[in-house]
Amino acid sequence: MKAGYAFYLAVAAAALSGAQGDSGCSGNVATDSQDDVNQIAGCSSYSGNVEIAESHLPTLVFGNLKSFDGDLLIKNNAQLATVEFPKLQKFSGRLTFQNNTRLHSINVDQLTEVNAFHAIVNPSLSALSFPKGLDNMDTFQILDSSIAKLDGLAFSKINNFDLYANHNLTDIALKSLTQVGGYISIVNNNENAAVSLPKLKSIAQNATFANLQDLDLSGLESVDSDLSFHDNGFKNFTVKNLAKIKQSLSINNNGDLESFSFDALEDIGGNLLVVNNTEIASFDGFPALVQVKGSIDIRGSFKEAKFDSLKKVEGGFTVRSTESVDCKSLQGAYGKGTTAGKWDCKEKTDESEVTSSNTTKGSGSNSAAPAMGPSSWTSAFVGGLSLVVAGLHSYL
Ligand SMILES: *[C@@H]1O[C@H](CO)[C@@H](O)[C@H](O)[C@H]1NC(C)=O
Ligand SMILES: *[C@@H]1O[C@H](CO)[C@@H](O)[C@H](O)[C@H]1NC(C)=O
Ligand SMILES: *[C@@H]1O[C@H](CO)[C@@H](O)[C@H](O)[C@H]1NC(C)=O
Ligand SMILES: *[C@@H]1O[C@H](CO)[C@@H](O)[C@H](O)[C@H]1NC(C)=O
Ligand SMILES: *[C@@H]1O[C@H](CO)[C@@H](O)[C@H](O)[C@H]1NC(C)=O
Ligand SMILES: *[C@@H]1O[C@H](CO)[C@@H](O)[C@H](O)[C@H]1NC(C)=O
Repeated sequence: MKAGYAFYLAVAAAALSGAQGDSGCSGNVATDSQDDVNQIAGCSSYSGNVEIAESHLPTLVFGNLKSFDGDLLIKNNAQLATVEFPKLQKFSGRLTFQNNTRLHSINVDQLTEVNAFHAIVNPSLSALSFPKGLDNMDTFQILDSSIAKLDGLAFSKINNFDLYANHNLTDIALKSLTQVGGYISIVNNNENAAVSLPKLKSIAQNATFANLQDLDLSGLESVDSDLSFHDNGFKNFTVKNLAKIKQSLSINNNGDLESFSFDALEDIGGNLLVVNNTEIASFDGFPALVQVKGSIDIRGSFKEAKFDSLKKVEGGFTVRSTESVDCKSLQGAYGKGTTAGKWDCKEKTDESEVTSSNTTKGSGSNSAAPAMGPSSWTSAFVGGLSLVVAGLHSYL
């Protein structure tokens, strides 16, 4: 938080010391005044970094602005209810709305090009759409809003995509998205949220899908980091085309999940964790899996476990079930000869042993994601905005 603030203070100082361009349509500004806003609003294009913070303004209208070259941060404006950019088409930096408690409407009806869009803790925000469709961009992030739907996410490529704690958001459809160059995280939105990413082929960094009622990842072919599904409400789940995960795969705390299948998955570069999905009766969702470079840890209430193609587990192999499973024959099939690390199978265990994972660090994996890892990771967002600001800071 400090670093970002210091940056903007420096920006403010630069503005005061006369860095402003002659037309009044360029320069770095940190302000809370209507006069400064009017000056910017009169420009058809503006270049510079602008912060509008701690003001008492109820509305911000940037009537003439068609393009903006720089960052604009609108934050901590307690009275602010609406922000309008009726002509804005192109925004080359980061457009950020942060901690404006009453802000309910942002009009960016003409916007197609924006490098990064952040709406962070604007709990009243419900009116936001991109009717012209957003082009490929770096980052799209909405945390803690009242948005119920998101139209116009038309990009086919994006680096980071993050939706967290938008409690009214149910339909999340990115029909054109093929490639995520960074991370994607869709966590803790409406309890009925459904996510549709039918064309998404590759994800370069972590992918986390949580608290969803439906999820379509039918085109997914590769994940170059961790892939995690937790606290979802769906009963069945299929990922048909995913062949390789470079790091760990976690499927945890999905209380209604009865079956899942990763039909084409051959290779996991980290750990495989499937913990506390108590409705899975038979464990057979990895028919093509040949090798796991970390450990396997599967815990639940299943009676059978089958890995038809498994040849090599470089870490350990842990099985815990509250039901009776045939540990002997599992050991015969996947113990010595397949599993290089520790073999550890227990049947008819206590509930407590299947609801939390006793995570092992496997060779070849960077991180052994604990069962609750993703949730605690994302809770940092709500905590003190620390992660958000760290994210912003990394751009500076
Ligand atoms: C949010 O903004 C209000 C003023 O509107 C301010 O008092 C409060 O400290 C801000 N919260 C954070 C976490 O910055
Ligand atoms: C968001 O959902 C709550 C109930 O969870 C409801 O009271 C509220 O009206 C909704 N807000 C919007 C903008 O849809
Ligand atoms: C579960 O199966 C139904 C019907 O077979 C399908 O429509 C739905 O998309 C599946 N859900 C998931 C999450 O794969
Ligand atoms: C196990 O999963 C359920 C959801 O199905 C969740 O409520 C519970 O907290 C999980 N237990 C642990 C120890 O994470
Ligand atoms: C974790 O595993 C170790 C050794 O296998 C065992 O001693 C310990 O009790 C386990 N802890 C939990 C929480 O299951
Ligand atoms: C995601 O990525 C970060 C940093 O690359 C890593 O520390 C973390 O453990 C990863 N996994 C999850 C599930 O968040």
